[in-house]
Amino acid sequence: MSKKITPYLQGISAAVVLIGLSGVAAAILSPSESHESLPVPQTPEQAANMANAVMQSKCADCHGEKPWFNGWINLFSLGQMKRDIEGAQRAFVMKPDSGIRSANVDFLKIAQVLRTRSMPPALYTMVHPGTALTLNDVAIMSHYYSGREAMKRAFAPIRPAGMTQDEFTAYVWNMPDSTTPPDQHALAKAWGKVYLGHRLYYDTRLSTTNEVSCASCHDLTRGGTDNLPKSEGVPGPDGKPQLGGVNAPTVYNAEGNIRQFWDGRAANLQEQAGGPPLNPVEMGYSHPEDWKEIASKLAKDKEYRILFPLVYGDKGITAETITDAIAAFERTLVTPDSAFDRYLGGDDKAMTEQQKAGMEAFLTYGCATCHAGPTLGGQSFEYINTHSPLRAHAKGYQEGAFGLNDFTKKEEHKDMFRVPNLRNVALTAPYFHTGTVNNLEEAVRIMFETQTRKAPTDELVADVTSFLQAQTGCYKGIPLDKLTQKDVAPEFVLDQMPGNTVEPAKAE
Ligand code: HEC
Ligand code: HEC
Ligand code: HEC
Repeated sequence: MSKKITPYLQGISAAVVLIGLSGVAAAILSPSESHESLPVPQTPEQAANMANAVMQSKCADCHGEKPWFNGWINLFSLGQMKRDIEGAQRAFVMKPDSGIRSANVDFLKIAQVLRTRSMPPALYTMVHPGTALTLNDVAIMSHYYSGREAMKRAFAPIRPAGMTQDEFTAYVWNMPDSTTPPDQHALAKAWGKVYLGHRLYYDTRLSTTNEVSCASCHDLTRGGTDNLPKSEGVPGPDGKPQLGGVNAPTVYNAEGNIRQFWDGRAANLQEQAGGPPLNPVEMGYSHPEDWKEIASKLAKDKEYRILFPLVYGDKGITAETITDAIAAFERTLVTPDSAFDRYLGGDDKAMTEQQKAGMEAFLTYGCATCHAGPTLGGQSFEYINTHSPLRAHAKGYQEGAFGLNDFTKKEEHKDMFRVPNLRNVALTAPYFHTGTVNNLEEAVRIMFETQTRKAPTDELVADVTSFLQAQTGCYKGIPLDKLTQKDVAPEFVLDQMPGNTVEPAKAE
């Protein structure tokens, strides 16, 4: 999984958690060992290790990969044991490489229930002496998970601390990639590839009608979305644009997603980018052979005839090189410097008091256990009805459609969706995979009702909403809500590259 996390995302959080949780399964402590004797943790690594130890001794009976089940006890408990195990296994299975959740999310889930002392269930601790949480267990997490320091650990600012805007740009532009091993022209290639991807992203020739580009549905001036409930693709037989089945998520910060799409069917951005052109509803082509037609249209473009060889040598214009370039461009679509980022960076005034209250609520009521990581989400697949029925999707919800089970065909993955990231969420309405909720406050209220144990008051909803409004970041140093089409249009900027010494390749 660590391969999926690009350098800018490797904040403290990833370190804490990957070090700590890689050993979830391994670090088995005997259940009789007393945690009272353990010191309050001094470092994040210690905190993670201690959380794991608690997990192994007090939680594994229900949350382990192989829960402990005893027919007699189940009978005596009138089936409570079975219900507990079923509930626990649905809520959270301790399995480091499940592929559907990053270690960061696992850790936050454990931290959350330890802080709020909501686990293990009271009935269980009554019949299993020694399993109740001790003050020390709670201290482990309370010590590490409240206030700004907690948010830093859980989320990490998008731009690493101490990095200037120029350094950050250079850093992001030079993200490691597989097709161009670094050589003396690596810089020019990286820069050229991003520009190439940028042009392709805006190129309507990827569609049958030469009218639809990636940007049609993922408009960079609209938070990376189309602000429509359902996206409009190429026209159908009736001459009207065909509608997709599901709401278009943002492309900003999408590189941070554990997998792409609501159902996770694409492993990464390059794989994802191959989808829309061959989607009959979106860009209109339908067969892998159609890439040849796309390539021949693109080959008529003089700039492409220079750029493809510069970046890809003799590989030519193919599905692979097209999607690789688009993915490289998308990796630059990261949005640092939100009010939240500035607050994490130490600027106390960056967020209002209400936003800070919202942030605390976001931690306390467990929003952060799913909306985790530097992008506040994207790190796991989760049930959309963890704590109550599917009210959120009363409108537009289709049973079994668009969720993880669509891709894996596993019954237990029904109603599981890739958690959306909440960066810039104030700009990406309408909400949910159904696109049926227009207003952010309403989305927050629904989340409280379906995903937490806390009934939302108007005040809570207002606080959390204002916290989410502090998530609007910047692209190219401009706040996302101020970007114009001119700011985001492709423009050849190699000579503006900070510290660039390589002679720019001439693109006429
Ligand atoms: C007796 C079985 C049992 C034990 C032991 C147990 N849990 Fe749970 N756990 C459950 C059940 C049942 C649920 C589902 C609760 C619900 O849906 O309301 C759950 C839910 C959770 C969740 C999902 C989030 C949430 O708040 O619902 C987390 C995280 C969790 N448990 C962590 C732990 C940790 C950490 C421990 C050990 C300190 C633990 N559990 C011990 C039964 C158990
Ligand atoms: C007709 C509208 C449309 C076009 C054109 C389109 N997309 Fe999308 N995009 C969507 C929709 C709808 C989804 C969600 C589909 C799903 O999850 O099943 C999506 C999903 C994505 C995702 C996944 C984001 C996430 O959070 O999982 C990325 C990245 C993306 N598109 C990038 C692109 C790129 C790059 C192109 C151009 C090659 C493109 N899109 C063209 C509508 C469109
Ligand atoms: C158990 C995991 C989980 C928890 C806890 C959770 N969410 Fe979500 N959240 C999701 C999933 C999954 C979706 C996507 C649901 C869908 O599209 O049907 C989502 C969607 C959202 C959206 C809509 C985003 C968009 O772009 O469509 C917002 C806003 C949101 N959550 C906020 C919150 C807040 C605030 C909390 C705490 C009160 C919270 N969430 C708690 C999993 C969770």
